[in-house]
Amino acid sequence: MEVVILEDATQIGAIAADAIETLLSHKPAAVLGLATGSSPLAIYDELATRCTAGRISFRQARGFTLDEYVGLPADHPERYRHVIDTVFVSRVDFAPGAVAGPDGLAVDIPAACAAYESAIADAGGIDLQILGIGTDGHIGFNEPGSSLASRTRIKTLTRQTRIDNARFFGDDIDRVPTHCLTQGLGTIMSARHVILVALGRTKAEAVHQLVEGPVSAMWPATILQHHPHVSVLLDGGAARRLQLADYYRETYRSKPHWQGI
Ligand code: F6R
Repeated sequence: MEVVILEDATQIGAIAADAIETLLSHKPAAVLGLATGSSPLAIYDELATRCTAGRISFRQARGFTLDEYVGLPADHPERYRHVIDTVFVSRVDFAPGAVAGPDGLAVDIPAACAAYESAIADAGGIDLQILGIGTDGHIGFNEPGSSLASRTRIKTLTRQTRIDNARFFGDDIDRVPTHCLTQGLGTIMSARHVILVALGRTKAEAVHQLVEGPVSAMWPATILQHHPHVSVLLDGGAARRLQLADYYRETYRSKPHWQGI
């Protein structure tokens, strides 16, 4: 796990976009895993800028979103499918239908989750997965207690996650859905490269557990310690509880620039 402590979200967006640009230059038909939420927004902004400038293209690429609320009407602005279209997909040049998400309106939820796993496998698996992290240590919506080997399935959101996400629902927790479909921890672990972004001091404890805590279902993101290629991109606030922060800073400073993350 590589820990990179950077100035701010803009710098994080640029470094993550560099990794995606490098991937697309080797593999134009790359498969990306796309998180919603506020953490990846600077990455999507930077990718949109580079695409508009003709520096990168998603024309042959595919995308799979991480998760989706259950039961939000198709036209609800906070449906993750709608959010990812707004913040990223509509701003770049993906082919129509190239980005898929779990179907939060499916009648047969287990079948929809199995179909989603099959679609990812049929696309050749995810080359690069973008993640945020919840204050309770969730990735995707794999809340504390999730199976470390789980695949796409329905989950109940914790009260903490619903409080955290109430800002997207008029600060009214009762309007935040109670359930979601999410790629499992096993699904996320199958991605070939994982870039996790955390911003701000509210994430500091979850980041400390992710990087330096014991692997435990109580802090689901800790499963990433078993992944061979994880890049954790942090601002100073999110890094403030790291015991080895100086070491991570020194390691990144002395790394050859051409190497990327
Ligand atoms: C979003 C997702 C969640 C978020 C996490 C952090 O698709 O899967 O795990 O990444 O809740 O959310 P933000 O980035 O809004 O702080």
